[in-house]
Amino acid sequence: MRGLFITFEGVEGCGKSTQLKELQAHLEAAGHTVVVTREPGGTPIAESIREILLDPDNTAMGATAELLLYEAARAQHIHEKIAPALQAGQVVLCDRFADSTTAYQGAGRGIAPETLRDLHDIATGGIWPHVTILIDLDPRIGLKRARNRGREDRLEREAIEFHQRVRDGFLRLAAEEPDRIHIVDGNAPIEAVSSAIIAHIDTCLAPRSTP
Ligand code: TMP
Repeated sequence: MRGLFITFEGVEGCGKSTQLKELQAHLEAAGHTVVVTREPGGTPIAESIREILLDPDNTAMGATAELLLYEAARAQHIHEKIAPALQAGQVVLCDRFADSTTAYQGAGRGIAPETLRDLHDIATGGIWPHVTILIDLDPRIGLKRARNRGREDRLEREAIEFHQRVRDGFLRLAAEEPDRIHIVDGNAPIEAVSSAIIAHIDTCLAPRSTP
């Protein structure tokens, strides 16, 4: 695969979407072809699965069905969008990916790490982010921001303890994979967060050939 796969991760309201747009503008100005996408979603089939997953009326959903739906959306996303973009040498910026499953369904819901690893392998076909930006934030601050955006989705309605476990799960992943996962402070001003992300990505791009 010739492209570069960059993912953004973090708790609700950590500022991923804003920062992703800032990085997109920076990379496009430098001449890269950038594909911006998200999980769950990114293709029509995966966006339909997203609606089921986030619908607050789906209170009956069990943890296993939830896990498999996230992985099904991911399998379709990889097949239809991410793999072709990387094959074409493009930069893929993805708002959440498999680390979110490890944090939310693993640390949050208690699904075993071996189960997650097996399902990630099946869903991704071995395609994994080259770089992940983890925007770390106290979920109490993030949820307050997210709630100001309007109606809460099914996951945002979970208790604060769930969101604390998710944050801890992300931080554990970052400690296990420091070469891939770069932590930035989501409590810093927006411009400071963007500068930190851009500086890191520029370092990652430096050894690669120019676009
Ligand atoms: P978003 O609000 O950042 O678009 O993400 C959608 C929600 O889905 C968010 O609450 C995190 C959750 N999620 C999981 O629980 N597992 C996953 O694998 C992914 C990608 C997202």
